Amino acid sequence: MKFALVFLALAGSALAQSPSIAIFAPSANTTVAAGSNLVVDIEKLPGLSGPSDVSVVIGLRTCGADCQAIAATGSVGAPLYKGDYSPQVVPGSGSTAAFQNYTVQVPATMPKGPALLAVGHFFLAGAALTPGSETVYTTVIVQ
Ligand SMILES: *[C@@H]1O[C@H](CO)[C@@H](O)[C@H](O)[C@H]1NC(C)=O
Ligand SMILES: *[C@@H]1O[C@H](CO)[C@@H](O)[C@H](O)[C@H]1NC(C)=O
Repeated sequence: MKFALVFLALAGSALAQSPSIAIFAPSANTTVAAGSNLVVDIEKLPGLSGPSDVSVVIGLRTCGADCQAIAATGSVGAPLYKGDYSPQVVPGSGSTAAFQNYTVQVPATMPKGPALLAVGHFFLAGAALTPGSETVYTTVIVQ
């Protein structure tokens, strides 16, 4: 009996830790100019019973020496976008994943060097529509 409970707890946490979205673009270490526009393409990974999407926040934060340390704080940095997330399957792409593009502006005051691009995703999970959130990251190089 104890075994079964432990197994369920592990399965539950594994599900919670597997993100349902990914940053399709920009790819890691893309160079962006301060003050310029950046297209962020957020992919909803295919899944049988993925959560119902509500919204996203796209944030950018300069890393200093260590982007991993910034990611570990869970902070998204200055929000460049916050609002609806309704990804669409691209017709003819052959992929069952859905995507949505957002054009955001890199702040003109953004320091040069590596910066952490964070996407916070808010959703309703399961038949009970339980609110939840997750955050995924990539790095860009500000010039
Ligand atoms: C991005 O740059 C960092 C620091 O130079 C490096 O550790 C990492 O492997 C790079 N990632 C990719 C996907 O090129
Ligand atoms: C997002 O933009 C890319 C590049 O411009 C394009 O190939 C893709 O079809 C767009 N995705 C959606 C869902 O509009």
